[in-house]
Amino acid sequence: MDLVQTIKIQSVHDTDTEEFRQIYDLYRRIFTLEEETESFDGLCASMALNGNPDLTQKYGPFQEIWLSARTPEGRLAGGADFNVFILPEQACATIHITYIFTDARCRQNGIGSSLLQHIESEARRWVASQGFPLNYPLHVFCEQNAPERMSPEEYRRDAEAAGLDPCQRLIWWHKKGFRRLDTEYVQPPLSPQGKACTNLSLNVKTSKRLFPSAIVSGHLRRFFYIAVFKARTSHDAQTEEILRKIEATGSIPVTGSLKEYRELGKRFSLQG
Ligand SMILES: CC(C)(COP(=O)(O)OP(=O)(O)OC[C@H]1O[C@@H](n2cnc3c(N)ncnc32)[C@H](O)[C@@H]1OP(=O)(O)O)[C@@H](O)C(=O)NCCC(=O)NCCS
Repeated sequence: MDLVQTIKIQSVHDTDTEEFRQIYDLYRRIFTLEEETESFDGLCASMALNGNPDLTQKYGPFQEIWLSARTPEGRLAGGADFNVFILPEQACATIHITYIFTDARCRQNGIGSSLLQHIESEARRWVASQGFPLNYPLHVFCEQNAPERMSPEEYRRDAEAAGLDPCQRLIWWHKKGFRRLDTEYVQPPLSPQGKACTNLSLNVKTSKRLFPSAIVSGHLRRFFYIAVFKARTSHDAQTEEILRKIEATGSIPVTGSLKEYRELGKRFSLQG
């Protein structure tokens, strides 16, 4: 039987467990760039906001969920972290996939693809639990390291720790239906001591050539103020400027192609 068929994927809600520690350890081996990696306390602080009444009143229902994937012998094979937001003003829900990862020894077995499917089904289940229909529109976003915005040192460190060349990563996401949004994207600092992350692109799963900017800004407002700032501020000038620019455009061009990513690979993959 294929490994993927024996893998058990479960959601993890409690950060005060051995299970969560193990997922964190695997996550920290794979994700190492300072500006895009959370501390253990940062991840716990973010999860602790689930159900926060003030934030729910301000932004609508939201939930952060972790997944673990284990082999039948109980070995951790992968994990994922994502946020689900309901945007009542846009009559849709959104997902932000923050991290998805497979242990390097278990790759190319369909576990990453399976985690991706579980993210959507778990999100749908949670949206339904909030009283919305199972077929409520759901848009899936993720960030990706943009090779052309990374320093050679960042590129090398990322490729080494992730065990995946950043250009190959773009191709993996592209094959899953994700497309890059042609908009300025800066992720605010994850912690008060940290720096904004400027080497990412914002991507969405879509087959359209234009994506509504109102959904993007509604999604990012929630993602930035809840998951990134973890409610430590409700007004950040740089963030507001980015959101304002997105809102000013009616829709955002959808870009990225396999050809483009293969070209990027020729330019960047040899840097390390
Ligand atoms: C990206 C990542 C999660 C993919 O994980 P994975 O478990 O290898 O993913 P999959 O096995 O589903 O897909 C990888 C390949 O295996 C193939 N595959 C899928 N099912 C398979 C199966 N049953 N048997 C063999 N191969 C299979 C897929 O077709 C895919 O090939 P392709 O890229 O040529 O289409 C993994 O490389 C990783 O953890 N990278 C580091 C972290 C990272 O960059 N995460 C993404 C950003 S947050």
